[in-house]
Amino acid sequence: MKLHGTQRVNEQGHLEIGGCDTVELAKQFGTPLYIMDEAHMRDICRQYYRSFVEDLENAEVIYASKAFSTLAMCRIIDSEGLGLDVVSGGELYTALQADFPVARIYFHGNNKSREELTMAIKAGVGRIVVDNFYEMSVLNDLAQELNLRVDILLRVTPGIEAHTHEYIQTGQIDSKFGFTLPDGTADRAFDLALSYSNLVVKGIHAHIGSQIFELDSFRHEVQIMINYMADINGRTDFLLQELNLGGGFGIYYATGDDPAQISDYAKTVEDALEDACRKRNFPRPKIIVEPGRSIVGTAGTTLYTIGSIKEIPGVRKYVAVDGGMADNPRPALYQARYEAVLANQAVEETTETVSVTGKCCESGDMLIWDIELPKAKAGDLLAVSCTGAYNYSMSSNYNRLTRPGVVLVEEGYADVIVKRETHSDLLRNDVLPARLNYLKMASR
Ligand code: LLP
Repeated sequence: MKLHGTQRVNEQGHLEIGGCDTVELAKQFGTPLYIMDEAHMRDICRQYYRSFVEDLENAEVIYASKAFSTLAMCRIIDSEGLGLDVVSGGELYTALQADFPVARIYFHGNNKSREELTMAIKAGVGRIVVDNFYEMSVLNDLAQELNLRVDILLRVTPGIEAHTHEYIQTGQIDSKFGFTLPDGTADRAFDLALSYSNLVVKGIHAHIGSQIFELDSFRHEVQIMINYMADINGRTDFLLQELNLGGGFGIYYATGDDPAQISDYAKTVEDALEDACRKRNFPRPKIIVEPGRSIVGTAGTTLYTIGSIKEIPGVRKYVAVDGGMADNPRPALYQARYEAVLANQAVEETTETVSVTGKCCESGDMLIWDIELPKAKAGDLLAVSCTGAYNYSMSSNYNRLTRPGVVLVEEGYADVIVKRETHSDLLRNDVLPARLNYLKMASR
Protein backbone atom coordinates (compact mmCIF):
# COMPACT_ATOMS: atom_id res chain seq x y z
CA MET A 1 0.00 0.00 0.00
CA LYS A 2 1.28 3.43 -0.87
CA LEU A 3 1.59 5.59 2.25
CA HIS A 4 -0.08 9.02 2.22
CA GLY A 5 0.26 12.14 4.35
CA THR A 6 1.53 11.29 7.83
CA GLN A 7 0.98 7.54 7.44
CA ARG A 8 4.05 5.54 8.45
CA VAL A 9 4.94 2.18 9.90
CA ASN A 10 6.24 2.40 13.49
CA GLU A 11 8.77 0.27 15.38
CA GLN A 12 6.11 -2.29 16.32
CA GLY A 13 5.28 -2.73 12.66
CA HIS A 14 1.95 -0.98 13.13
CA LEU A 15 0.47 1.57 10.79
CA GLU A 16 0.59 5.00 12.36
CA ILE A 17 -1.37 8.07 11.21
CA GLY A 18 -0.97 11.56 12.62
CA GLY A 19 1.40 10.12 15.21
CA CYS A 20 -1.30 7.71 16.44
CA ASP A 21 -0.80 3.95 16.39
CA THR A 22 -3.81 2.50 14.57
CA VAL A 23 -3.78 -0.59 16.80
CA GLU A 24 -4.30 1.72 19.77
CA LEU A 25 -6.98 3.67 17.89
CA ALA A 26 -8.86 0.43 17.28
CA LYS A 27 -8.67 -0.41 21.00
CA GLN A 28 -9.78 3.05 22.06
CA PHE A 29 -12.50 3.77 19.50
CA GLY A 30 -13.44 0.36 18.11
CA THR A 31 -13.82 -0.58 14.44
CA PRO A 32 -14.85 0.13 11.76
CA LEU A 33 -13.37 3.57 12.21
CA TYR A 34 -12.75 6.43 9.81
CA ILE A 35 -9.44 8.14 10.55
CA MET A 36 -8.80 11.61 9.10
CA ASP A 37 -5.25 12.93 8.89
CA GLU A 38 -5.51 16.62 9.78
CA ALA A 39 -1.98 17.66 8.82
CA HIS A 40 -2.39 16.03 5.43
CA MET A 41 -5.70 17.77 4.73
CA ARG A 42 -4.25 21.09 5.78
CA ASP A 43 -1.22 20.52 3.61
CA ILE A 44 -3.45 19.95 0.57
CA CYS A 45 -5.59 22.99 1.40
CA ARG A 46 -2.37 25.03 1.53
CA GLN A 47 -1.21 23.66 -1.82
CA TYR A 48 -4.53 24.78 -3.29
CA TYR A 49 -4.33 28.14 -1.57
CA ARG A 50 -0.76 28.77 -2.76
CA SER A 51 -1.31 27.53 -6.31
CA PHE A 52 -4.57 29.31 -6.97
CA VAL A 53 -5.19 32.13 -4.48
CA GLU A 54 -1.60 33.31 -4.11
CA ASP A 55 -0.11 32.46 -7.49
CA LEU A 56 -3.03 33.48 -9.72
CA GLU A 57 -4.34 36.97 -10.00
CA ASN A 58 -7.91 36.71 -8.76
CA ALA A 59 -8.96 33.25 -7.64
CA GLU A 60 -10.84 31.45 -4.92
CA VAL A 61 -10.83 27.82 -3.80
CA ILE A 62 -14.10 26.36 -2.59
CA TYR A 63 -14.13 22.98 -0.84
CA ALA A 64 -16.94 20.76 -2.14
CA SER A 65 -18.31 19.58 1.17
CA LYS A 66 -20.26 16.70 -0.37
CA ALA A 67 -16.97 14.80 -0.21
CA PHE A 68 -16.92 14.95 3.59
CA SER A 69 -19.05 17.32 5.59
CA THR A 70 -18.86 17.67 9.37
CA LEU A 71 -18.62 20.58 11.79
CA ALA A 72 -14.91 19.97 12.35
CA MET A 73 -14.25 19.82 8.62
CA CYS A 74 -15.97 23.17 8.10
CA ARG A 75 -13.72 24.67 10.77
CA ILE A 76 -10.57 23.29 9.13
CA ILE A 77 -11.63 24.63 5.73
CA ASP A 78 -12.41 28.03 7.20
CA SER A 79 -9.10 28.23 9.01
CA GLU A 80 -7.27 27.48 5.75
CA GLY A 81 -9.01 30.39 4.03
CA LEU A 82 -11.05 28.33 1.58
CA GLY A 83 -14.73 28.71 0.73
CA LEU A 84 -17.40 26.02 0.89
CA ASP A 85 -19.66 24.43 -1.71
CA VAL A 86 -22.90 23.04 -0.28
CA VAL A 87 -25.59 21.17 -2.20
CA SER A 88 -28.40 20.73 0.28
CA GLY A 89 -30.10 22.24 3.30
CA GLY A 90 -28.21 19.65 5.35
CA GLU A 91 -24.77 20.68 4.14
CA LEU A 92 -25.73 24.33 4.49
CA TYR A 93 -27.02 23.71 8.02
CA THR A 94 -23.73 22.00 8.93
CA ALA A 95 -21.76 24.98 7.62
CA LEU A 96 -23.96 27.48 9.44
CA GLN A 97 -23.77 25.55 12.70
CA ALA A 98 -19.98 25.60 12.34
CA ASP A 99 -20.21 29.41 11.95
CA PHE A 100 -18.65 29.16 8.51
CA PRO A 101 -18.43 32.66 7.00
CA VAL A 102 -21.60 32.80 4.88
CA ALA A 103 -20.15 35.06 2.22
CA ARG A 104 -17.78 32.22 1.27
CA ILE A 105 -20.58 29.66 0.84
CA TYR A 106 -21.73 28.63 -2.65
CA PHE A 107 -25.05 26.82 -2.87
CA HIS A 108 -25.38 24.24 -5.67
CA GLY A 109 -27.91 21.61 -6.67
CA ASN A 110 -30.31 20.74 -9.47
CA ASN A 111 -33.47 20.64 -7.39
CA LYS A 112 -33.17 22.95 -4.45
CA SER A 113 -36.45 23.19 -2.57
CA ARG A 114 -38.18 26.46 -1.67
CA GLU A 115 -37.23 25.81 1.95
CA GLU A 116 -33.58 25.31 1.06
CA LEU A 117 -33.52 28.42 -1.12
CA THR A 118 -35.20 30.47 1.61
CA MET A 119 -32.68 29.20 4.14
CA ALA A 120 -29.81 30.18 1.83
CA ILE A 121 -31.20 33.64 1.04
CA LYS A 122 -31.91 34.41 4.68
CA ALA A 123 -28.46 33.21 5.73
CA GLY A 124 -26.95 35.45 3.04
CA VAL A 125 -24.80 32.86 1.27
CA GLY A 126 -22.22 34.30 -1.11
CA ARG A 127 -23.56 32.78 -4.32
CA ILE A 128 -26.47 30.62 -5.35
CA VAL A 129 -25.61 28.59 -8.41
CA VAL A 130 -28.84 28.52 -10.41
CA ASP A 131 -29.28 25.25 -12.24
CA ASN A 132 -32.56 25.52 -14.19
CA PHE A 133 -35.46 27.77 -15.26
CA TYR A 134 -37.81 26.60 -12.52
CA GLU A 135 -35.29 27.38 -9.81
CA MET A 136 -34.56 30.78 -11.33
CA SER A 137 -38.16 31.90 -11.12
CA VAL A 138 -38.72 30.44 -7.64
CA LEU A 139 -35.54 32.09 -6.41
CA ASN A 140 -36.54 35.45 -7.80
CA ASP A 141 -40.01 35.19 -6.18
CA LEU A 142 -38.53 34.25 -2.82
CA ALA A 143 -35.96 37.03 -2.97
CA GLN A 144 -38.72 39.48 -3.86
CA GLU A 145 -40.83 38.36 -0.89
CA LEU A 146 -37.83 38.87 1.38
CA ASN A 147 -37.00 42.13 -0.33
CA LEU A 148 -33.44 41.01 -1.03
CA ARG A 149 -31.22 40.77 -4.08
CA VAL A 150 -29.34 37.53 -4.56
CA ASP A 151 -25.96 37.08 -6.26
CA ILE A 152 -26.07 34.14 -8.62
CA LEU A 153 -23.94 32.09 -10.98
CA LEU A 154 -25.58 30.22 -13.83
CA ARG A 155 -24.65 26.59 -14.16
CA VAL A 156 -24.02 25.66 -17.76
CA THR A 157 -23.39 22.29 -19.35
CA PRO A 158 -20.51 22.91 -21.73
CA GLY A 159 -20.65 19.57 -23.54
CA ILE A 160 -17.27 18.24 -22.47
CA GLU A 161 -16.68 14.62 -21.74
CA ALA A 162 -13.98 14.35 -19.13
CA HIS A 163 -12.07 11.08 -19.24
CA THR A 164 -13.42 9.47 -16.14
CA HIS A 165 -15.90 6.86 -15.02
CA GLU A 166 -19.11 7.33 -16.99
CA TYR A 167 -21.33 7.46 -13.88
CA ILE A 168 -19.62 10.55 -12.60
CA GLN A 169 -19.47 12.59 -15.76
CA THR A 170 -21.58 15.65 -15.30
CA GLY A 171 -20.41 18.06 -18.00
CA GLN A 172 -21.67 16.28 -21.09
CA ILE A 173 -24.85 17.37 -22.82
CA ASP A 174 -27.00 14.46 -21.65
CA SER A 175 -26.87 15.58 -18.04
CA LYS A 176 -29.44 16.48 -15.44
CA PHE A 177 -27.37 19.49 -14.46
CA GLY A 178 -27.40 23.02 -15.78
CA PHE A 179 -28.33 24.98 -18.89
CA THR A 180 -27.07 23.35 -22.07
CA LEU A 181 -24.56 25.58 -23.74
CA PRO A 182 -24.22 24.32 -27.33
CA ASP A 183 -27.97 24.39 -28.15
CA GLY A 184 -28.65 27.96 -26.99
CA THR A 185 -30.46 27.10 -23.74
CA ALA A 186 -27.75 28.84 -21.74
CA ASP A 187 -28.31 32.03 -23.78
CA ARG A 188 -32.02 31.98 -22.96
CA ALA A 189 -31.22 31.39 -19.29
CA PHE A 190 -28.82 34.28 -19.25
CA ASP A 191 -31.28 36.68 -20.92
CA LEU A 192 -34.02 35.64 -18.54
CA ALA A 193 -31.81 35.98 -15.46
CA LEU A 194 -30.99 39.56 -16.44
CA SER A 195 -34.69 40.34 -16.61
CA TYR A 196 -35.33 39.22 -13.00
CA SER A 197 -35.28 42.18 -10.65
CA ASN A 198 -33.99 40.36 -7.58
CA LEU A 199 -31.21 38.32 -9.16
CA VAL A 200 -27.73 39.67 -9.80
CA VAL A 201 -25.80 37.60 -12.35
CA LYS A 202 -22.16 37.46 -11.32
CA GLY A 203 -20.83 34.71 -13.51
CA ILE A 204 -21.10 31.18 -14.80
CA HIS A 205 -20.28 27.77 -13.46
CA ALA A 206 -19.54 24.37 -14.94
CA HIS A 207 -18.37 21.07 -13.53
CA ILE A 208 -17.08 18.58 -16.07
CA GLY A 209 -16.70 15.45 -13.97
CA SER A 210 -14.82 13.89 -11.11
CA GLN A 211 -11.58 11.93 -10.61
CA ILE A 212 -10.09 13.56 -13.73
CA PHE A 213 -6.41 12.95 -14.46
CA GLU A 214 -6.09 14.69 -17.84
CA LEU A 215 -5.39 18.35 -17.23
CA ASP A 216 -6.32 18.89 -20.86
CA SER A 217 -9.98 18.48 -19.87
CA PHE A 218 -9.69 21.59 -17.69
CA ARG A 219 -7.84 23.48 -20.44
CA HIS A 220 -10.66 22.67 -22.79
CA GLU A 221 -13.25 23.73 -20.22
CA VAL A 222 -11.57 27.12 -19.72
CA GLN A 223 -11.48 27.72 -23.50
CA ILE A 224 -15.15 26.92 -23.95
CA MET A 225 -16.24 28.97 -20.97
CA ILE A 226 -14.19 32.06 -21.84
CA ASN A 227 -15.42 31.89 -25.41
CA TYR A 228 -18.94 31.76 -24.11
CA MET A 229 -18.40 34.68 -21.73
CA ALA A 230 -16.94 36.69 -24.61
CA ASP A 231 -19.89 35.73 -26.84
CA ILE A 232 -22.34 36.96 -24.22
CA ASN A 233 -20.40 40.16 -23.88
CA GLY A 234 -20.47 40.65 -27.65
CA ARG A 235 -24.17 39.92 -27.89
CA THR A 236 -25.43 41.89 -24.87
CA ASP A 237 -22.58 44.05 -23.63
CA PHE A 238 -22.96 42.41 -20.22
CA LEU A 239 -19.67 41.46 -18.56
CA LEU A 240 -19.66 38.22 -16.61
CA GLN A 241 -16.93 38.58 -14.02
CA GLU A 242 -16.71 35.18 -12.37
CA LEU A 243 -15.88 31.80 -13.81
CA ASN A 244 -16.39 28.79 -11.55
CA LEU A 245 -14.75 25.71 -13.09
CA GLY A 246 -16.18 23.17 -10.63
CA GLY A 247 -14.10 20.40 -9.10
CA GLY A 248 -12.92 17.07 -10.41
CA PHE A 249 -9.15 16.93 -9.84
CA GLY A 250 -8.25 13.24 -9.55
CA ILE A 251 -6.33 11.47 -6.77
CA TYR A 252 -4.37 8.28 -6.21
CA TYR A 253 -6.43 5.33 -4.99
CA ALA A 254 -4.45 2.36 -6.23
CA THR A 255 -1.56 1.33 -8.47
CA GLY A 256 -1.96 2.81 -11.93
CA ASP A 257 -3.50 6.06 -10.74
CA ASP A 258 -1.23 8.90 -11.71
CA PRO A 259 -2.64 12.24 -10.60
CA ALA A 260 -1.06 15.54 -11.59
CA GLN A 261 0.29 18.10 -9.13
CA ILE A 262 -2.11 20.75 -7.83
CA SER A 263 0.37 23.41 -8.93
CA ASP A 264 0.26 22.01 -12.50
CA TYR A 265 -3.53 22.08 -12.38
CA ALA A 266 -3.39 25.77 -11.46
CA LYS A 267 -0.82 26.44 -14.15
CA THR A 268 -2.96 24.71 -16.77
CA VAL A 269 -5.94 26.84 -15.78
CA GLU A 270 -3.81 29.98 -15.79
CA ASP A 271 -2.26 29.30 -19.21
CA ALA A 272 -5.60 28.40 -20.76
CA LEU A 273 -7.17 31.47 -19.23
CA GLU A 274 -4.50 33.83 -20.44
CA ASP A 275 -4.60 32.34 -23.89
CA ALA A 276 -8.40 32.35 -24.23
CA CYS A 277 -8.79 35.87 -22.81
CA ARG A 278 -6.10 37.22 -25.12
CA LYS A 279 -7.61 35.59 -28.19
CA ARG A 280 -11.02 37.05 -27.45
CA ASN A 281 -9.76 40.28 -25.96
CA PHE A 282 -11.84 39.49 -22.90
CA PRO A 283 -10.96 40.81 -19.43
CA ARG A 284 -9.74 38.13 -17.09
CA PRO A 285 -12.56 36.97 -14.79
CA LYS A 286 -12.23 35.81 -11.21
CA ILE A 287 -11.51 32.05 -11.21
CA ILE A 288 -13.10 29.67 -8.74
CA VAL A 289 -12.31 25.97 -8.37
CA GLU A 290 -14.26 23.51 -6.24
CA PRO A 291 -12.14 20.53 -5.23
CA GLY A 292 -13.75 17.95 -2.98
CA ARG A 293 -12.12 14.56 -3.41
CA SER A 294 -8.59 15.90 -3.79
CA ILE A 295 -8.75 17.73 -0.45
CA VAL A 296 -9.93 14.87 1.74
CA GLY A 297 -9.59 11.65 -0.28
CA THR A 298 -6.04 10.59 0.56
CA ALA A 299 -6.37 11.96 4.11
CA GLY A 300 -8.87 9.27 5.11
CA THR A 301 -8.20 5.68 6.17
CA THR A 302 -10.82 3.18 7.26
CA LEU A 303 -9.80 0.73 9.95
CA TYR A 304 -11.62 -2.62 10.11
CA THR A 305 -11.30 -5.79 12.14
CA ILE A 306 -11.03 -9.00 10.18
CA GLY A 307 -13.50 -11.72 11.15
CA SER A 308 -14.42 -14.74 9.09
CA ILE A 309 -12.18 -16.04 6.33
CA LYS A 310 -13.50 -18.38 3.65
CA GLU A 311 -11.23 -20.20 1.27
CA ILE A 312 -12.64 -21.89 -1.83
CA PRO A 313 -9.67 -24.01 -2.95
CA GLY A 314 -8.51 -23.08 -6.41
CA VAL A 315 -11.05 -20.27 -6.63
CA ARG A 316 -10.69 -17.47 -4.08
CA LYS A 317 -10.06 -16.60 -0.46
CA TYR A 318 -12.57 -14.18 1.06
CA VAL A 319 -11.45 -12.13 4.03
CA ALA A 320 -14.44 -10.48 5.72
CA VAL A 321 -14.27 -7.24 7.67
CA ASP A 322 -16.71 -5.68 10.14
CA GLY A 323 -17.92 -3.00 7.69
CA GLY A 324 -18.37 -2.91 3.94
CA MET A 325 -20.69 -1.27 1.44
CA ALA A 326 -22.55 0.57 4.20
CA ASP A 327 -19.44 2.58 5.08
CA ASN A 328 -17.89 2.50 1.58
CA PRO A 329 -20.36 1.99 -1.28
CA ARG A 330 -17.86 3.15 -3.92
CA PRO A 331 -16.52 -0.26 -5.03
CA ALA A 332 -20.12 -1.50 -5.50
CA LEU A 333 -21.25 1.72 -7.20
CA TYR A 334 -18.28 2.65 -9.37
CA GLN A 335 -16.01 -0.41 -9.31
CA ALA A 336 -13.66 1.82 -7.32
CA ARG A 337 -10.31 0.29 -6.40
CA TYR A 338 -8.57 0.61 -3.03
CA GLU A 339 -5.34 -0.47 -1.39
CA ALA A 340 -5.03 -1.91 2.10
CA VAL A 341 -2.53 -3.18 4.62
CA LEU A 342 -2.74 -5.23 7.80
CA ALA A 343 -2.48 -2.36 10.27
CA ASN A 344 -1.06 -4.58 13.04
CA GLN A 345 1.52 -6.21 10.73
CA ALA A 346 2.27 -3.49 8.26
CA VAL A 347 5.86 -4.62 7.63
CA GLU A 348 5.12 -8.31 7.07
CA GLU A 349 5.74 -9.57 3.60
CA THR A 350 2.62 -10.18 1.55
CA THR A 351 2.15 -13.88 1.00
CA GLU A 352 -1.28 -14.42 -0.44
CA THR A 353 -3.89 -12.96 -2.73
CA VAL A 354 -7.26 -12.47 -1.06
CA SER A 355 -10.45 -10.53 -1.69
CA VAL A 356 -11.83 -8.28 1.01
CA THR A 357 -15.55 -8.49 1.54
CA GLY A 358 -17.93 -6.65 3.84
CA LYS A 359 -20.60 -8.02 6.16
CA CYS A 360 -23.71 -6.93 4.26
CA CYS A 361 -26.11 -9.50 2.90
CA GLU A 362 -25.13 -8.95 -0.71
CA SER A 363 -22.63 -10.73 -2.89
CA GLY A 364 -21.77 -7.33 -4.36
CA ASP A 365 -20.55 -6.14 -0.99
CA MET A 366 -16.87 -6.33 -1.93
CA LEU A 367 -14.31 -3.76 -0.84
CA ILE A 368 -11.23 -4.99 -2.69
CA TRP A 369 -10.81 -7.75 -5.25
CA ASP A 370 -7.50 -9.61 -5.36
CA ILE A 371 -5.16 -7.85 -3.01
CA GLU A 372 -1.81 -9.08 -1.72
CA LEU A 373 -1.69 -9.37 2.07
CA PRO A 374 0.33 -11.24 4.69
CA LYS A 375 -1.56 -14.28 5.98
CA ALA A 376 -4.48 -12.72 7.83
CA LYS A 377 -6.44 -14.17 10.75
CA ALA A 378 -9.53 -13.17 12.68
CA GLY A 379 -8.77 -10.22 14.93
CA ASP A 380 -6.20 -8.65 12.60
CA LEU A 381 -6.80 -5.06 11.60
CA LEU A 382 -7.20 -4.02 7.99
CA ALA A 383 -6.51 -0.39 7.04
CA VAL A 384 -7.99 0.70 3.70
CA SER A 385 -6.41 3.91 2.47
CA CYS A 386 -7.78 6.91 0.53
CA THR A 387 -11.28 6.64 1.96
CA GLY A 388 -11.59 10.28 3.03
CA ALA A 389 -13.87 11.39 0.20
CA TYR A 390 -17.36 10.09 -0.54
CA ASN A 391 -17.17 7.36 2.11
CA TYR A 392 -18.54 8.77 5.35
CA SER A 393 -20.64 11.17 3.27
CA MET A 394 -22.13 8.29 1.27
CA SER A 395 -22.46 5.83 4.12
CA SER A 396 -25.77 4.22 4.98
CA ASN A 397 -27.42 2.08 7.61
CA TYR A 398 -28.04 -0.75 5.16
CA ASN A 399 -28.71 -3.98 7.05
CA ARG A 400 -29.10 -1.70 10.04
CA LEU A 401 -25.36 -1.44 10.40
CA THR A 402 -24.33 1.48 12.57
CA ARG A 403 -22.16 4.13 10.96
CA PRO A 404 -18.55 4.14 12.15
CA GLY A 405 -17.20 7.06 14.15
CA VAL A 406 -14.70 9.51 12.68
CA VAL A 407 -11.51 10.51 14.50
CA LEU A 408 -9.28 13.39 13.54
CA VAL A 409 -5.64 12.59 14.22
CA GLU A 410 -2.84 15.10 14.56
CA GLU A 411 0.57 14.89 16.25
CA GLY A 412 -0.38 12.01 18.49
CA TYR A 413 -3.82 13.33 19.41
CA ALA A 414 -7.00 11.61 18.27
CA ASP A 415 -10.25 13.51 18.62
CA VAL A 416 -13.67 12.13 17.85
CA ILE A 417 -15.34 14.42 15.30
CA VAL A 418 -18.29 12.14 14.62
CA LYS A 419 -19.47 9.71 17.25
CA ARG A 420 -19.97 6.07 16.34
CA GLU A 421 -23.67 5.30 15.96
CA THR A 422 -25.30 3.00 18.47
CA HIS A 423 -28.17 0.60 18.01
CA SER A 424 -30.46 3.03 19.77
CA ASP A 425 -29.51 5.70 17.18
CA LEU A 426 -31.00 3.37 14.60
CA LEU A 427 -34.37 3.61 16.29
CA ARG A 428 -34.21 7.36 16.84
CA ASN A 429 -36.80 8.05 14.17
CA ASP A 430 -38.76 4.80 14.34
CA VAL A 431 -42.33 5.22 15.52
CA LEU A 432 -44.64 2.44 16.64
CA PRO A 433 -48.25 3.41 15.82
CA ALA A 434 -50.68 2.70 18.64
CA ARG A 435 -52.51 0.07 16.58
CA LEU A 436 -49.36 -2.06 16.58
CA ASN A 437 -49.38 -2.08 20.35
CA TYR A 438 -49.08 -5.73 21.49
CA LEU A 439 -52.27 -5.64 23.60
CA LYS A 440 -54.37 -4.35 20.74
CA MET A 441 -52.84 -6.81 18.30
CA ALA A 442 -53.59 -9.69 20.65
CA SER A 443 -57.23 -8.68 20.86
CA ARG A 444 -57.77 -9.00 17.09
N1 LLP B 1 -18.51 20.97 -7.80
C1 LLP B 1 -19.60 20.38 -8.26
C2 LLP B 1 -20.66 21.19 -8.85
C3 LLP B 1 -19.74 18.98 -8.18
O1 LLP B 1 -20.83 18.41 -8.67
C4 LLP B 1 -18.72 18.22 -7.58
C5 LLP B 1 -18.85 16.77 -7.45
C6 LLP B 1 -17.58 18.89 -7.09
C7 LLP B 1 -17.51 20.27 -7.23
C8 LLP B 1 -16.44 18.17 -6.44
O2 LLP B 1 -15.83 17.28 -7.30
P1 LLP B 1 -14.51 16.48 -6.84
O3 LLP B 1 -13.39 17.49 -6.72
O4 LLP B 1 -14.80 15.85 -5.53
O5 LLP B 1 -14.28 15.50 -7.93
N2 LLP B 1 -19.73 10.15 -5.39
C9 LLP B 1 -18.77 10.17 -6.49
C10 LLP B 1 -18.33 11.55 -6.83
C11 LLP B 1 -19.48 12.46 -7.24
C12 LLP B 1 -19.02 13.87 -7.50
C13 LLP B 1 -20.20 14.76 -7.69
N3 LLP B 1 -19.87 16.14 -7.85
C14 LLP B 1 -17.59 9.30 -6.09
O6 LLP B 1 -17.60 8.74 -5.00
O7 LLP B 1 -16.67 9.13 -6.87
